[in-house]
This record gives sequence, C-alpha cells and structure tokens, in this order.
Amino acid sequence: MARLIIVSNRLPMSLHSRPDGTYVLTQNIGGLSTAIGPYHKSHKDCLWVGWSGIDPTTRTEDEINAISDEFTRHRCIPIFLDSKQINGYYAGYSNDTLWPLFHDFAHEAKFDSLTWKAYEEVNEKFADTIAALANPDDTVWVQDYHLMLLPALLRARQPKLKIGWFLHIPFPSPEIFHQLPNGKELLEGLMGADLLGFHTEDFCANFLASVKSMLNLGIDKGGRISVQEDGRQRFVTVDAFPIGMDYGLYRRNARSSLAQAMRHGIEAFSGKRTRRVSTSLSAESRAAAEAEESWSAYTEDDLSEVKLAQSAAAKRGTRDNKVIVSVDRLDYTKGLPERLRAFALMLSRYPEWVGHVTYYLLATPSREGVESYRQLKEHVDQLVGEINGKYSLLSWTPIHYITRSLPIKPVCGIYSAGDVALVTPLRDGMNLVAKEYLASRDGRDGALVLSDQCGAASELTDAYIVNPYDTEAVCEALHSALEISSAEAKRRNAVMQARLKYRTASLWSTEFLSALRQVSDPRWADRRL
Ligand code: ADP
Ligand code: G6P
Repeated sequence: MARLIIVSNRLPMSLHSRPDGTYVLTQNIGGLSTAIGPYHKSHKDCLWVGWSGIDPTTRTEDEINAISDEFTRHRCIPIFLDSKQINGYYAGYSNDTLWPLFHDFAHEAKFDSLTWKAYEEVNEKFADTIAALANPDDTVWVQDYHLMLLPALLRARQPKLKIGWFLHIPFPSPEIFHQLPNGKELLEGLMGADLLGFHTEDFCANFLASVKSMLNLGIDKGGRISVQEDGRQRFVTVDAFPIGMDYGLYRRNARSSLAQAMRHGIEAFSGKRTRRVSTSLSAESRAAAEAEESWSAYTEDDLSEVKLAQSAAAKRGTRDNKVIVSVDRLDYTKGLPERLRAFALMLSRYPEWVGHVTYYLLATPSREGVESYRQLKEHVDQLVGEINGKYSLLSWTPIHYITRSLPIKPVCGIYSAGDVALVTPLRDGMNLVAKEYLASRDGRDGALVLSDQCGAASELTDAYIVNPYDTEAVCEALHSALEISSAEAKRRNAVMQARLKYRTASLWSTEFLSALRQVSDPRWADRRL
C-alpha cells in the first residue's frame, strides 16, 4: 500500500533517558510539529523521518538501537547527526543563514562555505535514508527550509516518487533572496518536487520572481514551472496553503479542569477574582504601615508608591483587573523586546493600569547553540527585570516571566486567562499562537493584538492589527484592546473563530496532499498543456 512519508529536520517528539535506563518521549514545540503532529498520530500508514536530537558519538551501539526502536514504535524514523553536522547544517546554515535571511533579518545572516557543505551533506544523508525506505508509489512530503536540496536528491534516487515540499516560514523578496550565495542551488533542489507550498500568495509571488530571475525556466499563468528531465517535460506547481490549527483540540483543552484551574489561579493572582481593586490597595498600604511603624513616620517620598497605586485605583474604579498573555519560542523574529517596550510605554502613558494589568509572558529558550539567540535571551531577561523593577508595587508585579516549555493544557489555561493576547512578531510565516488563543476562547470575549507582519494577519482581520515596530501604535492598540467591551470582543472573535473552525490543520494537510496527488498525475499535466 502506498504510504505517506513526512520529512522534517526535527521529529515531532524528543526522547529523554530516565535514570532507570528507560526512555520517555515529549512533544516538541514549534508551529510545524503543532500543525502536522495530529495528522501523523491519526494516520497509521504515515511515517515521519527526522533528526533524533541525539549525537550518535555519545552513545553505544546498543543504546542507538534501543533509541531507534523507541522512535519506531511511534512511527518515527530517526536520523542521527553528530555535533559537527548539527553545528554546520542546523545551527549554522539553517538557523544562522536561511532563517534570518528569509525573515528579512539580512544583517543577521552569516555566509560560510563550511556550513553550506554541512547542509549539502545532511540533505544527502536524508535522501539516502528515505530512498532506502520508500517504495516507488509512496508520497514524500518534505517540510521547511532545512531540506531545500532534498526534493532533487530524492528525485534522482527514486524518479517515480510523488514529492511535495512546504515552507513554514516566509519566502523573502527576490532582492533579499539574491544575497544568498547558494540561492541558485537551493532553487534547483526544489525543482525536484511536484508541488511547492507556501503560507500566502505573496510568498508564492516572491518565490516565482526568484525562480524567474535565477533559473532559465518557463512559468505559466497558473504558477507551474516547467522543467526538462531526461528529455521529458515535467511540471513543478507552486501554490498557497495557509496552515490552520486543530481548533477542537484547543477548545477542548481550554475547557479541561487543569486549564480552568490555571486560569483561576492566574485570575486570582492578578487580582481579578478574589479582590476588588480598591480594597486590595488599601490592604496593601495597611500591611506596609503595620509592618514598619505608623503612617506618620513616612515621608512624602515613602508614600509616593501607595499614592500612585491609589490614584490608579481611583481612575479605574471598581473595574476588573486584566491579564495580557503571550506564548513564544524565544526568537528574535517574535519581537519580544519591541513588545515589552510597548507594554512599558502603556504603563507610563496610562498609569491607571499600574497595579491592574498583569502580563503573563511565556517565552521558552530556543536554538541555544546560536549566538544571536543567547544574546536575545539576555536582552529579554534584562528588559523584564527593568520593567518589573520600575513598575512593581508591593503586591503586584507587572510581568510574570516563564521560560519553561509547558504542555498544551497549561498553555490553554494561559490563553483562557488572557483578556488580551499580544502577538507581535516582526516577521512570521503564519503564527499559530494567534489562532490557538482564539480557539481557546471559543464563544468567549478576549482581544487579539496582532502583527501585520505575519501570515495570520491576512486571515484574522478582525484583530487589532499593528505594525510591530511602531511602539506607540502597539501601546495604543493594547490600551484599546484592554478597554474593549465584552460584546464587541465576542462579535469580532466570532467572525475569526468561524474561519478557524473550518480551516483546520487537518484540512490543510488534506488539501495539500490531494493537490499533490493531482499534480503528480501525468494525465493532469497533459490536460493543462
Ligand atoms: P513558530 O513555529 O515560529 O514557533 P508558531 O506561532 O507558528 O511559531 O507556533 C508555535 C507553536 O509552539 C504553537 O503551537 C505554540 O503553542 C507552541 N509554543 C510556543 N512557545 C511555547 C512555550 N513556551 N511552551 C509551550 N508551547 C509553546
Ligand atoms: C519553526 C520552524 C520549524 C521548527 C520550529 C522550532 O516553526 O518552521 O521547522 O521546527 O520553528 O524550531 P527548532 O529549531 O527548535 O526545531
């Protein structure tokens, strides 16, 4: 029976050794595994090939066999890469060259012939593994920027395979793509596929413009590129497939008792549930006074913080406190420093929020082997510290900063507690967090502040759409989103939720795979000629 083989750099799960010598698998985070993981889980004829995350030189042969068996039990075929290969291909060419360049951070991109060599070598290794595994009538679905050479390498080894490739990040403008010394080879690598998918029409147009200027190939009006192979014509189709998410999964998890317990915990902690604003502040000032001497012992300076808090309370009256949330990998494309500056500006421009809005910032370190990511972590740590230091009151901290990676239910608990989700990447292919927030608030209010620089912005047009570089605009949108009426928020969300409910990750996979089946059928090519 023909099978589907999904291929990505990272498998959807990582394996960790327990002290007793057994292994445990945990879900990896990131848009790719969130979107395709459920499809792989529910389709028993589907295999997933990817990097194991384990350096084979640090393990015995028996251990490698046991690790392979554990992965295989979950229909995952691990590829083992040593630290030199990972430094060159993954930390180097994929994440220090392609990632920044494709996200319009050309100044961050490093060009190094050694990392390019490693990229070629690892793509070859993937091709060898898959060619040994695949039958001629199988379908191979390659994912993302780590494996752009793979389609042609596979086609050379197994010409009859149906090969698709999907890019989970933006494709840059031709001016930027031309800066890449090996750009032509990458485009040639992709020409081995039958179908190339991008999140948006704009990314398709950028890609076709680069193909047009760098490869001497014909492109028809439908976005089909014609390539010559062994004297025969073959077509490579390019199309947009905006990725969705599993709406029901997030809605269900947000309603689970664990997520609800987290929501209530966050609400109590941020003063939403158990305390009224004014009494909490007077309790705070009383406690401060009793702990030391009497009120008369305080100077005006000593009391300024209490006054600040009391005047904020007076302005806000008895309205509920609010919670802002965000969930990200700690990545410079996510715009975390810019977002934090906008939050700080809001506290200073609208002091009535001081003591009354708490920002839950979940930001998990990512790609720590890459220097720019380590620097970003330091920068975010420092900014959070500065903002908390400057604005904290005795019983209130503006930012709750969590750097662990959390499982889906607690993540849904955070979404569920968030009156506002602040999703402001500087550049992002799609951004699933924005969609997960809306699914977690199914039928409820809650406002989304969303960057205009991500694929999701063209679908979620009822959000507060902002330029993430414009600190003032983000500050004002955040303030308005916090002030939105429940009825208006529900009205906006209902429009977006209706779309997300329908355009799920599963529909996305099905549409891509049925398009791939169609375009790799030679009769289809004849019909279009
Ligand atoms: P990217 O693919 O660049 O990471 P997306 O927003 O498309 O960005 O997808 C991120 C995925 O990873 C989402 O499913 C999100 O819930 C998950 N995620 C991100 N950060 C965390 C975190 N700190 N803990 C748990 N899950 C996270
Ligand atoms: C993005 C990329 C994925 C990647 C994920 C996490 O979603 O498109 O390919 O897996 O980030 O990054 P990591 O480098 O940890 O795999």
